[in-house]
Amino acid sequence: KKVVLAYSGGLDTSIILKWLQTEYGCEVVTFTADLGQGEELDPARKKAELLGIKPENIYIEDIREEFVRDFVFPMFRANALYEGLYLLGTSIARPLISKRLVEIAEETGADAVAHGATGKGNDQVRFELAAYALNPEIKVIAPWRIWDLTSRTKLIDFAEQNQIPIAKDKRGEAPFSVDANLLHTSSEGKVLEDPAEMAPDYVYQRTTHPEDAPNEAEFIEVGFEKGDAVSINGETLSPAALLTKLNELGGKHGIGRLDLVEGRFVGMKSRGIYETPGGTILLQAHRGIEQITLDRGAAHLKDELMPRYAELIYNGFWYSPEREMLQAAIDRSQEHVTGTVRLKLYKGSVNVVGRWSDHSLYSEAHVTFEEDAGAYDQKDAAGFIQLNALRLKLLAARDRRLKR
Ligand code: ARG
Ligand code: SIN
Repeated sequence: KKVVLAYSGGLDTSIILKWLQTEYGCEVVTFTADLGQGEELDPARKKAELLGIKPENIYIEDIREEFVRDFVFPMFRANALYEGLYLLGTSIARPLISKRLVEIAEETGADAVAHGATGKGNDQVRFELAAYALNPEIKVIAPWRIWDLTSRTKLIDFAEQNQIPIAKDKRGEAPFSVDANLLHTSSEGKVLEDPAEMAPDYVYQRTTHPEDAPNEAEFIEVGFEKGDAVSINGETLSPAALLTKLNELGGKHGIGRLDLVEGRFVGMKSRGIYETPGGTILLQAHRGIEQITLDRGAAHLKDELMPRYAELIYNGFWYSPEREMLQAAIDRSQEHVTGTVRLKLYKGSVNVVGRWSDHSLYSEAHVTFEEDAGAYDQKDAAGFIQLNALRLKLLAARDRRLKR
């Protein structure tokens, strides 16, 4: 029996690793991904070795470019927001992790994958729906739903009995649970559980407090090609390098903080603190370039589809025909979404202040309040309004007749 574990190198997944070996009798393969969470991966290798994983069974990979290019950017083409506000930073990373888990299982002849998500959350659903969509035969082991290590004390005891090193600060209850990658950092639970209480300042990890951000505004230009950001201030950057740069800029100016109560797929509401500095800039920038390059009909349809698309990603249906159908429609709309957006970053806010494109649909000749040299005949508008008003007039006439 062989299982591929999504392994962070942290205490919880180290306990899972040991538990899979001892209680489950599995040979364990570990997969540790650099998704831009800003942690060294070397300690994860050392720890896996220490816990008896053979070197050939330790997979450590930098998948930041794939993450941004094939998951984050396609999602941003849709301007996706869950429940109006959440930029889906955790949701979008899970299918990629599952994809690699399944691929590594196939490479190493493992019949199962394992993850460290609890039985109460969204992540278990996302990991598992993606895994089953990619390999219908795969088995999934979710230790949090099975074992009896149901308290911090039991977990620590298990760690000590099995010589799992415990960092001094991990002995007590962690103050809250964090998930981080290149797109965002999320914090949930414990001190954040009362949604009436303001989150303490120490929860925020990658953005300056807006009040402490620079007093000088900063202006940047983001270049787009077919709906994807490709440059900052004229410099062409790879997807991951571009998002890294936007994170620096957004973090410095305190952009992208969100305190949200959201509806989990499993039914309960939960409160999270999110920091999405680069993503928040990217959303504004993308909407800015769409303003001049997308036709109104296409733009409005896209906005109608968006909540459905966002919900699919939130609920773990990245690998589903309906997500792929919506993606095809969204991608098709981006053919002319090429050009440049100028943005102002200032104390927690990001605003579009200019946009231009060779593909622009904006016509100054048509819109000008000055003489328009025959581009638009204002007399045409009279008939346009009369025919649109016809129904409204008939309705109003009826209501007057019936005195309502
Ligand atoms: N509530 C967010 C979501 O469902 C964040 C989840 C954070 N996950 C975690 N393992 N801490 O996408
Ligand atoms: C978890 O329960 O593992 C984290 C929260 C979530 O998945 O929603």
